[in-house]
Amino acid sequence: MHFPICRPRRLRKSEALRRMVRETKLSAEDFIYPLFVVHGRKVRNEIESMPGMAQLSVDLAVREAEGACKLNIPAVILFGIPDQKDPKGSQAYAPRGIIQQAIRAIKKELPDLVVITDVCLCEYTNHGHCGVIVDGRVHNDATLTLLAKMALSHAEAGADLVAPSDMMDGRVKAIREALDRKGFEDVPILSYAAKHASVFYGPFREAAESTPQFGDRKSYQMDPANAREAMREVRLDVQEGADIIMVKPALAYLDIIRKVREEIDLPVGAYNVSGEYAMIKAAAQQGWIDGERAMMEVLTAIKRAGADLIITYFAKEASRFLEKNRAGC
Ligand code: PBG
Repeated sequence: MHFPICRPRRLRKSEALRRMVRETKLSAEDFIYPLFVVHGRKVRNEIESMPGMAQLSVDLAVREAEGACKLNIPAVILFGIPDQKDPKGSQAYAPRGIIQQAIRAIKKELPDLVVITDVCLCEYTNHGHCGVIVDGRVHNDATLTLLAKMALSHAEAGADLVAPSDMMDGRVKAIREALDRKGFEDVPILSYAAKHASVFYGPFREAAESTPQFGDRKSYQMDPANAREAMREVRLDVQEGADIIMVKPALAYLDIIRKVREEIDLPVGAYNVSGEYAMIKAAAQQGWIDGERAMMEVLTAIKRAGADLIITYFAKEASRFLEKNRAGC
């Protein structure tokens, strides 16, 4: 059938009609809110390149988490900034480390909020790489032992879900085995399966103080040019026992989110990363773009591409927007 019988504009006539035929609908339940936790009390260090985000001491992180929970956001993901760094990132798996403290405090006050932890050594090593260095290179297998230890210490502190983001080969299996050995067979693994070596992590590295002190992450994170390899990474993580698969970053990788969605039956996550957030915030501050609409458009696009879960610094703002704009008569 053709024009003039066919007129797609008929269904765009009013907001109510558009709402009825909208294919992708965001809700606060789609979001996971990241928190950066530092030592101390009543500490709030604003992160310049991520307006609205801050490094928070545990007491204030609990308040932020409560704010997210009140907005119906089901989960937070925690990143720790330790007060000491060393070559093996030992604060990452210290029983009283910053993340372990944060998990306990949040779970105590907000038992229903899902607490996810980022499992990676880069915030904890003095060289800033995601694994241990042997002969000037990030050593895969030696790192696995430490990642497993780190994930286990998070589970022991009460984490609901662990999320390895290091990109070592075999880490999902190593973490699964370590958790199962200690009776944490019910703690799921959200794997950053297709994580690319992206320039869009820049602001995060300021926030997490995790810039590599030499070289870059290209020997472990993926080449942004590769989509078939992304699928291979995803399949390997599924075989190793991942419960949720993530693609990262999100916006320049919507094709990969879609491919993973089509091929894999597990829940699919996408990480709307720091640089993606910073670009919108910066343009909005200049008055060059409507920040609120840009936020909603990109989050909708990530969901439309196939993501079930979106880690985003916009989580609270977008949830507030959705609440404010709930239509009705
Ligand atoms: C840790 C980690 C990074 C991010 C999440 N976990 C940084 C990196 O790999 O360099 C980036 C998140 C963001 O940019 O928002 N490895």
